[in-house]
Amino acid sequence: MTATGLLADIETVGRDPRRGGYSRHGFDRVELELREWFVAEAQRRDLAVRCDRNGNLWAWWGEPGADAVVTGSHLDSVPGGGAFDGPLGVVTALAAVDSLRDSGFTPTKPLAIVVFAEEEGGRFGVPCLGSRLLSGAIDADTARRLHDPDGVTFAEAVAEAGLDPTRLGRDDDALSSIGRFVELHVEQGRGLVDLGAPVGVASSILAHGRWRFRFAGEGNHAGATLLGDRRDPMVPAAEAVLAARIAASEVDDARATVGRLVPNPGGTNVIASTVDVWLDARAGDDARTRGVVDRITAMATDAATREGCELTVTEESYGDTVHFDARLRDELAGALGGVPALPTGAGHDAGILAAHVPTAMLFVRNPTGVSHAPAEFAEAADCEAGVAALATVLGHLAG
Ligand code: GLV
Ligand code: MN
Ligand code: MN
Repeated sequence: MTATGLLADIETVGRDPRRGGYSRHGFDRVELELREWFVAEAQRRDLAVRCDRNGNLWAWWGEPGADAVVTGSHLDSVPGGGAFDGPLGVVTALAAVDSLRDSGFTPTKPLAIVVFAEEEGGRFGVPCLGSRLLSGAIDADTARRLHDPDGVTFAEAVAEAGLDPTRLGRDDDALSSIGRFVELHVEQGRGLVDLGAPVGVASSILAHGRWRFRFAGEGNHAGATLLGDRRDPMVPAAEAVLAARIAASEVDDARATVGRLVPNPGGTNVIASTVDVWLDARAGDDARTRGVVDRITAMATDAATREGCELTVTEESYGDTVHFDARLRDELAGALGGVPALPTGAGHDAGILAAHVPTAMLFVRNPTGVSHAPAEFAEAADCEAGVAALATVLGHLAG
C-alpha cells in the first residue's frame, strides 16, 4: 500500500468544516477512530499491537525486546491543522514495512511503529505528552491534572479510552527497549524546496515552550463604564501580543506567537474579567528563549499595572534546544546517498526521545512550506520518496 493510499483512507476523519483542515485531538472521538484504524492496519500486517501505560500505541514486527529500531509519529493535529503533520510519519512507517517485506527483508532486531499520544498538545495544552510521560519529562500527577477547555482532565480522558490513569508515568521498560528512534515528518518550512531535494535529515530543534499569561481585571458593562473607571484585562492582553512581536524581533532566530487568547466571559458588550493569552516562544538556545519570555513578561506586567490589572504567568511546557545525534544523522544521510541536513523550528516526539536514545528525523519536502494549517502539503511522489528513504533507513538499522 502506498503512503498516499493510506492517507486517503483517513482523509475524511476529523475534517473541521468550521476551521478548515483537520481537528484531531488526543483521545477525542476522532483520534480514537484514527487509533482504531492504525490498530487494524498493523494487524493486517501481522504486527502485534500494544498500548503502553501512557496511551502510546506500538506495533511490533518481531518479538518486542531490547535494542529495537522504532519509528513513527502521531495522529493528532492542531486545531484546523493539515493532513500531513503526524499522519505522514505513521503511514510512511506502515508503507516502509510493506516495502521491506516485499523485498524479502527480515529484521534481525525488533522493529516497531509507534503512534504517540497528544503530540500537539491541542487538547490538554502540553505538547508531546505521550513521549514526555514515557520518558519522565513530565510527572504523572501534573499530567493527570491537565484539562481540556471543557474541564475534562487527562486522567478522565485516558480512563474513558480504557487506560488506567494511575499507571501513567515514566515507562522504563518501553524506554529501554528503544535502540534507535527515527521519526519521518513533513517539513515545516521550505528548506528542501530551496535545496531541490525530496528528503532530508534533521540537525536540530529550537528551544521552545508555552506560557499562559492570565490578566485579571474587573468585569463590567461596555456601555455604562467610563474609560477612566475600567480595569479591562483585554488592554494589557493586546499589549502582550505586540510585546511578543517586539521581543522576538530583537533576538536572532527567535519566534514568539500568540495563537490563542480567551476572554472570560467573552461577550461583545462585556468588559472581560479575565483574559488568558497563550504564548509560544522559541529561539536557538535556552538563554535567548528565556530572555524573550522575560522581556515579554516585563512589558506585559507594565501594561497590566497601567490598567489596574493583575498578571499571573505560568510555564505550561518547555524543551531545550535539541541537537540530534550527529553520528546517527550522518550515518542515515550517508545511507540515503548524502541527503541534506536541516534544522527545524517545530517540536517533535523525536526531540523528547533524543535526550534518552540516539534519535534521528527524516523530512519530506513541503512545496507550500506551510504547516499547522490546511495548506500543508507533500506531493505523492515525495511521500513515496519518504517511504523509500524510511525503508532504507529501517533496513540499514535493523538488518
Ligand atoms: C509542534 O508541531 C510544534 O512545534 O508546536
Ligand atoms: Mn505539529
Ligand atoms: Mn508533528
